[in-house]
Amino acid sequence: MRVKSPGRVNLIGEHTDYSLGYVMPMAINLYTAIEGEKADEVRLYSEYFKEERSFKPEQLDRKGSWIDYVKGIYRVLREEGYSAGGMKGRISGNLPIGSGLSSSASLELAVLAFLNRAYSLNLSRLDMALLAKKAENEFVGVPCGILDQFAIAFGKQGHAVFLDTDTLDYEYVPFPEDVSVLVFYTGVKRELASSAYAERRAIVEEALKMLGKRTSKEVSEGELSKLPPLHARYLGYVVRENGRVLEVRDALKSGDIEYVGELLTAAHWDIARNYGVSCEELDFFVRKVNELNAYGARLTGAGFGGSAIALVDREKAEQFGETILWEYKQKFPWDARYFVVEPSEGVRV
Ligand code: GLA
Repeated sequence: MRVKSPGRVNLIGEHTDYSLGYVMPMAINLYTAIEGEKADEVRLYSEYFKEERSFKPEQLDRKGSWIDYVKGIYRVLREEGYSAGGMKGRISGNLPIGSGLSSSASLELAVLAFLNRAYSLNLSRLDMALLAKKAENEFVGVPCGILDQFAIAFGKQGHAVFLDTDTLDYEYVPFPEDVSVLVFYTGVKRELASSAYAERRAIVEEALKMLGKRTSKEVSEGELSKLPPLHARYLGYVVRENGRVLEVRDALKSGDIEYVGELLTAAHWDIARNYGVSCEELDFFVRKVNELNAYGARLTGAGFGGSAIALVDREKAEQFGETILWEYKQKFPWDARYFVVEPSEGVRV
């Protein structure tokens, strides 16, 4: 059996999912694959790490390595009353690891889809997204929202996924065929920043509590003056970002890619100035790629390094990538890379 599980970029709606706001990600054609079969224990070889790891399905201690993502899935399955046996096989793919394109959620969903089929667990796509999120939150210990797991479970070729992370209602929004998404990995690893992620989450949650609101969707900008300055600044960004997600959805539907691009760039400078999760490298990319006349650009994912995206005409995308990479390398020593990607299918066997 072979499972293919994509990575994701988020078009718009950053740091809005943990306050139950709107997001609009897409699955991309960079992926993790697992090729394997049922077995008594779990034995997996990672092509990226060039090593094999194994464990028994009932032996779920954390080891501080990539195999923890697999163990986390076994753990949540067991907690939720599903019984999955072992698996053996090979993990491969072309999704760069630790670059802000959700390589961990991609692996988790790959394992879930594999076990779902192998052991007839009858999990829906939503079940898989929720289980993978639970594994991240409780086993891996990252207090993330549902953005990454949902995008990877529900991705659709040629479409972005508009999602209300509160109700989990979603809608596929067609993405123009003549526009490419240029993904730029800054070479700055982003794991380092998980405490900054948790801090922002805590402040936004506190701000909602102070206003007596359950979700960021219910907050208007006028109410922010009741909050202390930092709370107002963070939540203010989230409120405006929710608004931009709705605007991007509508602009995509009406084919106004110029306006989509403007909103993306506006989102970048808003998150950089008011939410403090950008960095010099991401800002450099956004500024330069816009000087080259991209439709728009912004950081994607948690920020603090990782990757950014730009929307560019399909036939110019490679040229943009080359030029921007060259300029970036004149200034930064990091091992940056670019990828021209397309909105793609979610995880599948
Ligand atoms: C990470 C998290 C997501 C989301 C983004 C920021 O990717 O895993 O849940 O919060 O950051 O939008």
